[in-house]
Amino acid sequence: MELERLITQLGKFKVLKISNCGEIKGEVSISGAKNSALPLLAASLLVEELTLENFPILLDTLYGLKILQNLGKEIILYPETNRVVIRGTVKGNKVDYQLAGLFRGSILFLGGLLGSMGKAQIAQPGGCPIGKRPIDLHLKFLQSLGCQIEQEGDFITVKLPPKPKRREFTFEKITVTGTENALLTLTALEGEFILKNVALEPEVLDLVSFLRKLGVKIEIFNRTFKIVVPRKKELKHSLTHQIIPDRIEAGTFLVLGALLGNPLKVKGLNVFHLKAVIEKLQKAGVRLKVKSPGEVEVYKSILRGDNYLETQPYPGFPTDMQAQFMVLYALAKGRSVIVEKIFENRFQHAHELKKMGAKIRIEGNKAFIEGVEKLKGASVKATDLRASAALVIAGAVAEGETTISNIHHLLRGYEKFDQKLASLGCRLKLF
Ligand code: EPZ
Repeated sequence: MELERLITQLGKFKVLKISNCGEIKGEVSISGAKNSALPLLAASLLVEELTLENFPILLDTLYGLKILQNLGKEIILYPETNRVVIRGTVKGNKVDYQLAGLFRGSILFLGGLLGSMGKAQIAQPGGCPIGKRPIDLHLKFLQSLGCQIEQEGDFITVKLPPKPKRREFTFEKITVTGTENALLTLTALEGEFILKNVALEPEVLDLVSFLRKLGVKIEIFNRTFKIVVPRKKELKHSLTHQIIPDRIEAGTFLVLGALLGNPLKVKGLNVFHLKAVIEKLQKAGVRLKVKSPGEVEVYKSILRGDNYLETQPYPGFPTDMQAQFMVLYALAKGRSVIVEKIFENRFQHAHELKKMGAKIRIEGNKAFIEGVEKLKGASVKATDLRASAALVIAGAVAEGETTISNIHHLLRGYEKFDQKLASLGCRLKLF
């Protein structure tokens, strides 16, 4: 019941209206990382009982809990303390088609099911329209193990071999969920395995720390994981895991503070996960103080132009912060350039920001931005999760009122974003 009610409650909103927030003085606490919660939900299939703390309650994680419920798991959710207990034995190995199509993270249940049952049937994942979002790298890994893979229509059925064909695999391209799916799948195969050219995002390493607690030995040498899986009966049956803070939510609020903070205190983050973001903020002239590893104070600043930003796999500048920085650069005196190197279609927010008066020219995967004095409120459309957050920031700093449609994208990936902004004095409403 709880799950259904929360999904209905969050899923019903279509539009967000926000007026100029003036200056923002106050503090905001960062929630648990969505992109860590999702692989950990898939990892809950590997144990009888898993308790997750600092669990962010948002549409994508609620969809993930629904998938687990459909697979036979019992879900006990404590929304007031951001805790969830997932327990029981898995009864099926087919991921719900409808739910899988709602978010990209559903692909992780492929790895979770293979790791626990050795068999999985899943539909092609959904998610933001920021590019083709193929899963060829995931499938190449499974093929290298000797898996049986059948594709019928939208469905993929995968069966693990009793023993892996090879004990080494190199990803031809760095993939976050591809690395996570490989880690989840390998827990079913006893013995040593070498994974090369892996993703090292903090969310991947949060899954690594979970698997180490489970009893899997994982050593890291640069972009190589050396994995040693013990016999199944030596793996733990129940675990508790605290999810790391959401570095992208934190970065989103740092950008808001750079535009309106007087100051804005961002608490409960992990400053070590934000090195590239903080560096780029300071390069753009943003005044901020790192008060502790968990707290940053940021001030409205005179923004310098002539910025150059290239998105890269971690520890490089995160693609999930690109849209938010486009708003920052749109208001920085002078020219800036953003190069999107991860996804092939992640500039849709530029079109919307231009409706608000931003001066942006797109050429392939490059955005050329000419800073303007101010943005004007307008009616705009959210196109993906991080674009929607960027448009909310733009609306908070623009003159007048901004109406953002398709706001479900925001509610998929940010916990209580509207409430957090309202507590900082912003005037906004969800409809
Ligand atoms: C994860 O997506 C995140 N999602 C994304 O966050 C994030 O933008 C992305 O990593 C990059 O950091 C989750 O963790 C749930 P990839 P993922 O596989 O794993 C190509 C958000 O806003 N590729 O690292 O899907 C792919 O097209 C979301 O929270 C293949 O070609 O990204 C992309 O160009 C948006 N074949 C590049 O690799 C594959 O099989 C990186 O993708 C897989 C990926």
